[in-house]
Amino acid sequence: MLDTRVSRRAMLMGTGAAAAWLASPARALLQAVGKVAVPGFVDALIARMTPEEKAGQLQIMPSAWGGGAALSLNPPGNGSDFDQQVNEARQGQLTGVFNGNGARMARLLQNAAVKESRMKIPMIFAADIIHGHRTIFPVPLAEVASFEPDLARRTAEAAAFEASGAGIDWTFSPMVDVARDQRWGRGVEGGGEDPMLGSLFAAARVRGFQGADLKSPEHMLACIKHFAAYGAAESGLDYDVANMSMRRLHEVYLPPYKAGFDAGALSAMASFNEINGIPSTGNHWLMTDLLRGQWGFQGFVVSDYTGDEEMIAGGYAKDGRDAARIAFLAGVDMSMASGLYRKFLPDLVRSGEVPQAKLDESVRRVLALKAMLGLFDDPFRRIDEKREAARSLLPKTRALAREAGRKSIVLLKNDGDLLPLPRSGKRIALIGPFASGAHDLVGPWVVYGDDAKAVDLATGVRAAVRDPSSVIVAEGSKVEEPLPGGIEQAVAAARDADIVLLAIGEHTGMSGEAQSRTEIVVPEPQQKLAEAVAAVGKPVVVVLKHGRALALEGAVADAQAILATWFLGTETGNAIADVLFGAYGPSGRLPASFPWKSGQQPYYYAHKPTGRPNPPGELQPYKAHFRGIPNSARYPFGHGLTYGKIDYSGLTLSAPALPMNGRIEVAATIINRGTRAAEEVAQLYIHDRVASVTRPVRELKAFRKIALAPGQSQVVRFTLSAADLAFYGLQDRPVVEPGTFDVWIAPSAEAEGVHGTFDVVA
Ligand code: NOJ
Repeated sequence: MLDTRVSRRAMLMGTGAAAAWLASPARALLQAVGKVAVPGFVDALIARMTPEEKAGQLQIMPSAWGGGAALSLNPPGNGSDFDQQVNEARQGQLTGVFNGNGARMARLLQNAAVKESRMKIPMIFAADIIHGHRTIFPVPLAEVASFEPDLARRTAEAAAFEASGAGIDWTFSPMVDVARDQRWGRGVEGGGEDPMLGSLFAAARVRGFQGADLKSPEHMLACIKHFAAYGAAESGLDYDVANMSMRRLHEVYLPPYKAGFDAGALSAMASFNEINGIPSTGNHWLMTDLLRGQWGFQGFVVSDYTGDEEMIAGGYAKDGRDAARIAFLAGVDMSMASGLYRKFLPDLVRSGEVPQAKLDESVRRVLALKAMLGLFDDPFRRIDEKREAARSLLPKTRALAREAGRKSIVLLKNDGDLLPLPRSGKRIALIGPFASGAHDLVGPWVVYGDDAKAVDLATGVRAAVRDPSSVIVAEGSKVEEPLPGGIEQAVAAARDADIVLLAIGEHTGMSGEAQSRTEIVVPEPQQKLAEAVAAVGKPVVVVLKHGRALALEGAVADAQAILATWFLGTETGNAIADVLFGAYGPSGRLPASFPWKSGQQPYYYAHKPTGRPNPPGELQPYKAHFRGIPNSARYPFGHGLTYGKIDYSGLTLSAPALPMNGRIEVAATIINRGTRAAEEVAQLYIHDRVASVTRPVRELKAFRKIALAPGQSQVVRFTLSAADLAFYGLQDRPVVEPGTFDVWIAPSAEAEGVHGTFDVVA
């Protein structure tokens, strides 16, 4: 229940805050939603269509071509074969297919649709182009570590270039679900724990996929998913419920979706989960009142894979017909994979349970988008077998993958400046299940990429050192099982070496859909390997492979240097070697906090204060912390070291107070006292000390990535307006209240950096 009491203070401030909000850039963005142009011929077509043909335009199915990639990435389908799908295209029973097999397949289906069907409406081809098509970029979570949204725009654009060459018009991406529980496996596909950072990446990816004109045969339609709050699954269990206050939904979970729509995304995917008892697929408030009513979304909504049908098992629909009716009336325009819309919508319209006008409205949206994608002008505009091959894995795209890879790596620890390593004069033992081999490189959500086309760590390291024979590889352990004799072999390799690179962590199947973990640790056999290798006494660099933030323990946590390298895609080995040997100084920052222990989940930096916080220092009794560990992260959101020595000093404020309609400038000096160049990500956090609703201990409001040569200093300046300090108030709208705010410019969410205070005044 929402507390609708109106505090005197909130009332007093209501006018000023509302004025600030109305004048704010955020408000301006609210109005800049993507526009859909409906060409005149669309209504003429609709007027000639049968209810069955209309329902067909609202049904997408996984491609059945040759067993199809689609089927291996989702639960088993409904047994349809490709010939049957071609027939369905002829009969106007299919709006399109997804995760198909390239231009050749698309041509067969498109020919059936535009040459042999009664209405000659072109099909749309969709796919999960999550972080690349043939050239695979870092997993989305990794790329967020770059704190460089424009990098994500560029990789999305490159992915669109390759994929649209292969006949794909529509990507089921970006996935923008905020994930604050690292047990959940799908955080790997998203933007991390912070709504502000996640929003910037959501918008950037939409711009990259869609470009300036959807007709472009080098771009494709983006799809914001999974709407909404899929990442808030209880206890991190995939598909489970999200229960939360409206305030949390609005402040934390909704902003990245909204940012994606504001950037122009014209399709959305309903999430599998329920929110407060209502499955998203059947949630009229979410899909219609909020999305279309308040946000002005003009595109179309597709269910997730059998999401409509799953409302039966979820206890919200009694059978398939009921599920189709509920989903459609809620505002889900298109059904994915279940076949329920084409099966039941015609009859639901005849019986009057679904208004004919509503059916026409959804068909209009889908046809308008097909027109915007240029499919009515030329249904084959993205279908070209030659172009498909010519665009694949181009050197410039691989170069971008390498750039994105190295920018995604986060240096968590570097005791005694062990890194960067010299290129010669040292023998290196490269140990661990991820040391070599064409596996676990591209990551868990890849339809068309291939580990065999990717560079493994051993190849990258050997290419970077002067003498490749100075690198000895030992597997040491399987990922989740011991390797007989592996530890002995690894220990021997470590003894013979000057430095150990320990490539350990999670394999591809440990994150992604339906891959929630109870313990977010390095699996036990690898932990044992790490302990045995550490006991040899050589300097150890841990090179982590992971799809989530991990709780590091024992010898892994105690290693002299630790690199978070996620799944980096096609250029994995080269990107990691670039950082290991200093061709590139690490610049990534954590998009999700690494906790001390798994049991802290969900742990996120922007948690609320409690009445009994533990003061800095020793753990005290009767204070908020788990037994034996502080209520903090081992490596918090925003953390990441460089090869320089970075100092923050001299926070200045342009004024002691910020008027409701004014601005304040916050600045600090950042210096690199080291001997190597560094890229620092200066982060601005605020905290509202006393409010009518308790506020997080810190909230990220801005950041800037700056390059500093040795000895160089720079003043970073940020401008805050009152609207930047708004929160979801007691009257269900953004409010800013007067009072004292803390402000930090800091190298992470839990580092002190430099601190000041200012007052917001009426
Ligand atoms: C289910 C996933 O939740 C969604 O993200 C994906 O786009 C569909 N399957 C289609 O593969």
